[in-house]
Amino acid sequence: MGIQELSQGVLPGTISLVFGHPDPAILPVDGLRAATEAVLCSPQARLALQYGPQQGTPALIDYLLKKLNREEGLGLTGDNLMLVAGSVQAVDMIARLYAGHDGVVLVEGPTYHEALHVFRDHSVDLRPVAIDGDGIVIEALAAQLTLLQREGKPPRLLYTIPNFQNPSGVTMTAARRRAVLELAREHGFLIVEDDVYRDLVFEGEVPPSFYALSGGQGVLRIGSFSKIVAPGLRLGWLIAAPEHIQRCVNCGTSQMGGGANPFTAHIVAEYCRAGHLEPHIARLREVYLRRRDVTLAALERRMPPGVTWTRPRGGFFVWLTLPEGMSIEPLREAAREQGVLFVPGTGFFAGGGGQRNLRLAFSFVPPDEIERGVEILAQVIGEMMGQGI
Ligand SMILES: Cc1ncc(COP(=O)(O)O)c(C=O)c1O
Repeated sequence: MGIQELSQGVLPGTISLVFGHPDPAILPVDGLRAATEAVLCSPQARLALQYGPQQGTPALIDYLLKKLNREEGLGLTGDNLMLVAGSVQAVDMIARLYAGHDGVVLVEGPTYHEALHVFRDHSVDLRPVAIDGDGIVIEALAAQLTLLQREGKPPRLLYTIPNFQNPSGVTMTAARRRAVLELAREHGFLIVEDDVYRDLVFEGEVPPSFYALSGGQGVLRIGSFSKIVAPGLRLGWLIAAPEHIQRCVNCGTSQMGGGANPFTAHIVAEYCRAGHLEPHIARLREVYLRRRDVTLAALERRMPPGVTWTRPRGGFFVWLTLPEGMSIEPLREAAREQGVLFVPGTGFFAGGGGQRNLRLAFSFVPPDEIERGVEILAQVIGEMMGQGI
């Protein structure tokens, strides 16, 4: 996200449905202030300000192991988890260690644009696989794998966001997850499961993770405090089989990295120990559920026929598809002139696509602004359809 885009989001009168960020108004300032004070006033203060262990701050690792085992019965031990400086750092590390120059990485189409950016930094060979409302289309994955077999280029990794996907809001079904795992075993690639939205579920059960379904074999699962506490912490975690955690903990940047943000990790460990995390997540679910509902209701009321959208059961995003013949750039310009910003679909594809798609984030702005933003957007789309643009 560029500085320019950020500043556009706060221009007076502009409604930004761009940011997949938590609303600043609901960041837990008081809980983090109390936790910071507690850390700095404790006998641990000097330890917290030192380099930390490569794997991460033990108190936070313990907390996460207990949380994940309690909630999902994963049976994790201390060898299965390391802290990372935000989930994107984990993606970067995995790309570096496991994909290699020109190694094939399968990505969903669409997928998280910043992950594409990271993979491109490593000059990997990105191959898109289509998704629909149930997640990865198995036939599309199988076809891509056949193609790669013919080329003699077995894929190294599949990067997937199975829950409340960024940008589509889609959740992959358990059946699709099982089918993907089967293909992964058959073709020998690792699954990178980016699961940063898992806790932000509004409706129904979250399907078992790839990690759970695989018994922890062949899956590197990433989590983050960015969406459930605050992105400025730059703190997340990686769970995987011990050999993968060992490899990551001992890689060059971890070796003398002093652990992922040890001071922050001590603060978050204290925040969690004091019992703030669970109630905060419960509150976030309520806040974002209301925003999701406001978004869907406004779309339903205002959008002209022919425009379709996803119905996320959690997370931050709704994904819109415009009717045939329309394209995103003129709409982006026209909406911007009316003070509404969104992210065009094109940046979320590794191999082209998204010309009729846009992502609306409902996390960052309050419900009345979402409603007004969708209203304006619908009006602009209606006018453009009327003019045959
Ligand atoms: C799928 C996905 N992964 C990772 C991130 C970023 O996580 P972090 O702040 O932990 O790097 C985001 C944030 O938008 C995301 O949508």
